[in-house]
Amino acid sequence: MAASKPVIIAPSVLASNFAALGQEIADVRRAGADWIHLDVMDGQFVPNLTFGAPIIQAVRSSCDAYFDAHLMIETPDALLADFAKAGVEGITVHVEACPHLDRTLSYIRELGCKAGVALNPATPLGTIQHCLDRLDLVLVMTVNPGFGGQRFIDAMLPKIQQAATMIEGRDIQLQVDGGITAETAPKVIAAGANNLVAGSAIFGASQGYAQAINAIRG
Ligand code: DX5
Ligand code: ZN
Repeated sequence: MAASKPVIIAPSVLASNFAALGQEIADVRRAGADWIHLDVMDGQFVPNLTFGAPIIQAVRSSCDAYFDAHLMIETPDALLADFAKAGVEGITVHVEACPHLDRTLSYIRELGCKAGVALNPATPLGTIQHCLDRLDLVLVMTVNPGFGGQRFIDAMLPKIQQAATMIEGRDIQLQVDGGITAETAPKVIAAGANNLVAGSAIFGASQGYAQAINAIRG
């Protein structure tokens, strides 16, 4: 099934130069990024640490793009208000970290943000079926989260197709994250994804951000 929604490219700043984060965000936006993907890691849910709401707030004024916070953290509820206050448009939590997912998603919307849920590669789609009316985005992870630069897991393609069928007719973004390159992008788009996160394929590109974004968009 081909994507019927416009394709959105969301560069993940995880692969950017953190010493110049605000400038990197401004540069990648100017190069054609639709969204800015912000990977928040707590060293518990995933074996890596990145940044939190204060850093996001500090770079919020770098550009006017949609800020898409991907929270790879345990017990996210306690921090959701901080991310909303930092100025993100969307917050995605991991279903594996949310014992009361519908409550968490409702809270994200109460805070004025779009609500997303991410699934690790091993997590079945049935875990989110009951929450479709509270969701603005479904993120099918195409690597195990924690690090940039990992290899795309091909076995996720049928899962993307199933997710596309599950959300069909709803105003829900179908996002993929991990190992997205100019080679893997056409496969995920053909499977039904419309929202592509890419870190190393954009920030690590030798030919420049604009060309890298165009190559992924196809
Ligand atoms: C992985 C993160 C991704 C990561 C993607 O845990 O959620 O957003 O930055 O990096 P690449 O595109 O290099 O796989
Ligand atoms: Zn991510």
